[in-house]
Amino acid sequence: MTDTLDRARATLRANDRGGYTVPTARLYPFQWNWDSAFVAMGFATFDEARAWREIERLLEGQWGDGLIPQIVFHAPSDNYFPGPEVWGTRHAPPTSSITQPPVLAPAARRVLDTATNHGEAEARMAAIYPALLGNHRWWQRARDPLRTGLVATLHPWETGMDNSPAWDRAMARVPTTTTTVVRRRDNVHIDPAMRPRAEDYQRFIHLVDCFRDAGWDPARMLAASPFRVADTGTVAILLRAEQDLLALSRRFGSAAEQAEIADRIALQRAGIATLWNEQAGIWMARDLIDGAPAVVGTSAGFLPLYAHAAEAEQSRRSAATLTRWAEKVRFLVPSTDPADAAFEPLRYWRGPIWAVVNWMIADGLDWAGQPKLAARVRADTATLIDTAGPWEYFDATDGKEAGGADFSWTAAIRLLMG
Ligand code: DGY
Repeated sequence: MTDTLDRARATLRANDRGGYTVPTARLYPFQWNWDSAFVAMGFATFDEARAWREIERLLEGQWGDGLIPQIVFHAPSDNYFPGPEVWGTRHAPPTSSITQPPVLAPAARRVLDTATNHGEAEARMAAIYPALLGNHRWWQRARDPLRTGLVATLHPWETGMDNSPAWDRAMARVPTTTTTVVRRRDNVHIDPAMRPRAEDYQRFIHLVDCFRDAGWDPARMLAASPFRVADTGTVAILLRAEQDLLALSRRFGSAAEQAEIADRIALQRAGIATLWNEQAGIWMARDLIDGAPAVVGTSAGFLPLYAHAAEAEQSRRSAATLTRWAEKVRFLVPSTDPADAAFEPLRYWRGPIWAVVNWMIADGLDWAGQPKLAARVRADTATLIDTAGPWEYFDATDGKEAGGADFSWTAAIRLLMG
């Protein structure tokens, strides 16, 4: 136990590049948005000042309009494609121009609530609260201007679950042509069988070209993107984040801000309710271009529990769905329904287990009155990490490690699980 926690702490220290943490050496040599939110919570278990620093350094990348980018390119590296030259934005430090699931408010709230140095925590939280509020306003303005209650995700990289089968249908609409030459580096570091396919990358980069042509302008991007989905993961995480922001606002904000956040919460609650798939007993993404629901269950489909957005019957049914998944694999939670033809045990987001998703699902299961299932998810996560080390992801059928080694957010989750 001590060994595994020591190793997790050592992983975070080793991936520290000066106030920000790379997800893993070589494969991901910059600061990633949602990785850093989990990393901050991990650091908070043994170095509170460093936890705040992680968040502050991420916010150095925030744009004037409130966007918190997916990647902040603090220092150059040849190990990653697409680098800052492809994004071509003029922000300093350079950043990518899309976002990622907004786990930052829940992370900041947790770092605050677990702090032992209360004075420092209050001061640093007060300083970043306006940035969090500005970011949630950006989500509303840029991604749900018509107030549907469902924010749009415009790139699979924004979901953080790049090649999930939930995107297969919507991605088929995206051309494979690019003006940017695709020079993948990920396959140099990792077995290509564990990464997205060549065709996926063509489409990923087509979208980047499309957004560059739109001048990175949110309204033009929203209108022009051939990929526009309501991702259960992003929608749920944002709704959870709004609730955490509301709690923070009671301490650091104004009554008007609390009313504004409460209004978004009501809107988003109504939106997420429409993603419930009665037949499958899980929430599923929706294509916002033609309105079609996704047809495959993924681990993101359990995250509305993390958003505290389930009716009692939905909690019961989704727990039953997860229990059915457990009959097909040795460890929970595979990223794709293991009974579905799209399930691939080792290919990135098409089957493997991700510790961060497990952590959010376990949190949601506890809220949903399913403590046994929550304990099972946590125990599986700890067993996987204790046996193989803090890898990027794991095969749900046999627990084999996959992707990058010494992965920061996996180490952070191990520390959070204690
Ligand atoms: C990648 O490049 O694989 C990342 O998932 C993008 O965020």
